[in-house]
Amino acid sequence: MCWFSNQGCNPVVIPAQAEIQNSIPGTGFWPIPGQNDARESRECLMKKLLFQLDTDPIPSVFDTVVAYDGGADHVKTYGGLNPNNVGPLIDGAIFTRSPKEKKFTALFIGGSNMEAGQNLLKAVRKKFFADFRVSVMFDSNGSNTTAAAGVALLSTAIPLAGKRAVVLAGTGPVGQRAAALLAKEGAEVTITSRDMKRSQAACKLIRERFDVEIKPAAAADEASRAKALKGAQIVFGAGAGGVQILNEEHWRDNPTIEAMADTNATPPLGLEGVDMMDKIKERHGKKAIGAIGLGALKLKVHRTCIAQLFDRNDQIIDAEEIYAIAKEMAAE
Ligand SMILES: NC(=O)c1ccc[n+]([C@@H]2O[C@H](COP(=O)([O-])OP(=O)(O)OC[C@H]3O[C@@H](n4cnc5c(N)ncnc54)[C@H](OP(=O)(O)O)[C@@H]3O)[C@@H](O)[C@H]2O)c1
Repeated sequence: MCWFSNQGCNPVVIPAQAEIQNSIPGTGFWPIPGQNDARESRECLMKKLLFQLDTDPIPSVFDTVVAYDGGADHVKTYGGLNPNNVGPLIDGAIFTRSPKEKKFTALFIGGSNMEAGQNLLKAVRKKFFADFRVSVMFDSNGSNTTAAAGVALLSTAIPLAGKRAVVLAGTGPVGQRAAALLAKEGAEVTITSRDMKRSQAACKLIRERFDVEIKPAAAADEASRAKALKGAQIVFGAGAGGVQILNEEHWRDNPTIEAMADTNATPPLGLEGVDMMDKIKERHGKKAIGAIGLGALKLKVHRTCIAQLFDRNDQIIDAEEIYAIAKEMAAE
């Protein structure tokens, strides 16, 4: 083992500081070609740095904890980020380490506003050029990891293609990503909101990002949400924490519903009658997945994605990549 890290490097002789600091003339960035010993020693010493870029003023503690659990050696959090103020942080991430060492620096984009997160990701990508880039994971409000876990589990419960799916209260980050993933699987998807304009805005955002058509619907109370489920086979509950969005009788008495997933783990739960621990549990002839039932997979997927960030310096780990990992894990 390397004396200074747990990365499994072979024992090395640490070269003199002056030798390490030999650099390409005029750049001062990294050792000249041929100085492999010095470079390998430096790689061995490299810490895995994760810069957590949050669009909210206060960065998410949840994302910080999972970043460490996923394998980052050091996590630095920044809040209140937007395309106008992120630039210097990205310069710091891409101009500091040599091409081989850049994989030890990575970025995580989070925050409660999906549109703000997507715009931040765009701004970050715009700063990258040639090999001056680092890997990025995008997961505003746990949107990708939670939606990916839920949809992946649904896909193991029933075939999704050709089905009618309704994402209840689907205007938040999790609902938007669940709708996109369900549509990419070939389902015909509707998003409900208490307000038609918010539903339309969410559908537009999804179309721009994923090139899929989602139907907007207004459903302000449980009875109107039950109506929106007419003829649907899949229900995805994506309402805010602590808000029940559907009565048990409204899904129990619906003859077409085959499978349902709820993401809200804060009582009262989103779908009455679905236990938070359910993991493809048969209830009234339907397959039910609860918020912790899918949350365990979500956490595994999130940690795996963090670990994967440090494999290479050129990855964008967003909905499609995260869903591929979730599907593989859900099938295990
Ligand atoms: N299980 C897990 O591992 C896990 C991980 C992450 C997140 N979550 C949960 O996933 C859910 C979705 O997350 P999110 O960040 O997308 O949620 P969010 O943005 O906080 O809320 C989603 C939507 O809920 C609707 N809503 C809010 N208050 C409501 C009310 N009183 N009645 C009816 N609808 C209401 C809003 O839609 P309209 O205003 O358009 O109606 C809102 O856009 C949350 O419950 C969150 O806690 C679970």
